Amino acid sequence: TETLKIAIAGLGTVGASTIKLLQAEPTHGGSGRNIEVVAVSARDRTRERGVDLSGARWFDDPVEMAGCDADVFVELIGGAGGAALASVEAALTSGKAVVTANKALLAEHGMRLVGMAEGANVPLLYEAAVAGAIPAIRTVRDGLAGVPISSVLGIMNGTCNYILTRMEAEGIGFDECLADAQRLGYAEADPTFDVDGFDTAHKLAILASIAFTTEIDAGAMNIEGIRGIEPADIAAAAELGFRIKLLGIATMTEDGVDQRVHPTMVPRGSALAETSGVTNAVSIRGEAFTELVLSGPGAGGMATASAVVSDLTDLARGLAPRPLGRPASSLLPFRKPQA
Ligand code: NDP
Ligand code: HSE
Repeated sequence: TETLKIAIAGLGTVGASTIKLLQAEPTHGGSGRNIEVVAVSARDRTRERGVDLSGARWFDDPVEMAGCDADVFVELIGGAGGAALASVEAALTSGKAVVTANKALLAEHGMRLVGMAEGANVPLLYEAAVAGAIPAIRTVRDGLAGVPISSVLGIMNGTCNYILTRMEAEGIGFDECLADAQRLGYAEADPTFDVDGFDTAHKLAILASIAFTTEIDAGAMNIEGIRGIEPADIAAAAELGFRIKLLGIATMTEDGVDQRVHPTMVPRGSALAETSGVTNAVSIRGEAFTELVLSGPGAGGMATASAVVSDLTDLARGLAPRPLGRPASSLLPFRKPQA
């Protein structure tokens, strides 16, 4: 068909921004196809969203919407289970392509969902799930296709980097910085996921699975967040010429893939140390190409919407990979995290 019909579940920070971006330019990327929002779902039908929803059919239940007459189901609800999981499963079962920004869902159920997408022979795309606007998934999957990667690491949580930056630059307390990150739409619905490192772990596990052709596994990982970082720690690091950053690090070792998340001292002047505020930075290393560093906005409505729209545009152009699952024969064992 000329029009790619999409159904959007979740009209919050990312959902509303996605509609804004689509309405700004409904014909994307020279695909010659309009992308039309034909159905939407959220909890509160009466809430003003700042976007025109008059052309879309409203569903109170995203699972019911998953069976509607759309080509693509876009899940922007959030959470590893509940309505997000049920509606994505229903959409894949009904043979729809799925686009999601939900890293918690993918970290927990990704392999099963990839299997369902494989079974239905439909794409399951999630560029927005890792590092906001940065095309990290595409870079590893397509840009470096077939090229051995030795590590992927970086700053993958905008909320934490925003907090650490403001604590250092302005001497503001942790709680105030977190409240601002929530107000700006950076934080997860439960910000524990951000500050305790789980969100970084989810993203790292997803990116590592593509870089190293392994299963998504956020379970076998040492995870430490930034809750314990005091202004005195930041000052002590500064005296030594370092900054403290929350890093996710996945490295290919002889025993498999080592994954971990923890605050790390990085030397001032380096790309990671100079990444400030909500910006994320992802470093990809490999013998053949040495290092690529990608940086850009890691959270926020429009930044994340840009990654959702890029997935939708690939679908409109017929370029989306189907699906991103990996053959079982290539699965490598994950090394147990080090104590
Ligand atoms: P919000 O909390 O702003 O929006 C969630 C939306 O889901 C709301 O519109 C809410 O409805 C709707 N919703 C919740 N439960 C249901 C339900 N049972 N049925 C139908 N709709 C429901 O979240 P975000 O937009 O911030 O995040 C959405 C997803 O994107 C999450 O997976 C998040 O991790 C991910 N993400 C977010 C980023 C960000 O910067 N915010 C960046 C990258 C990824 P209502 O509005 O009526 O309450
Ligand atoms: N809460 C996440 C962050 C949103 O702060 O990075 C982007 O994934």
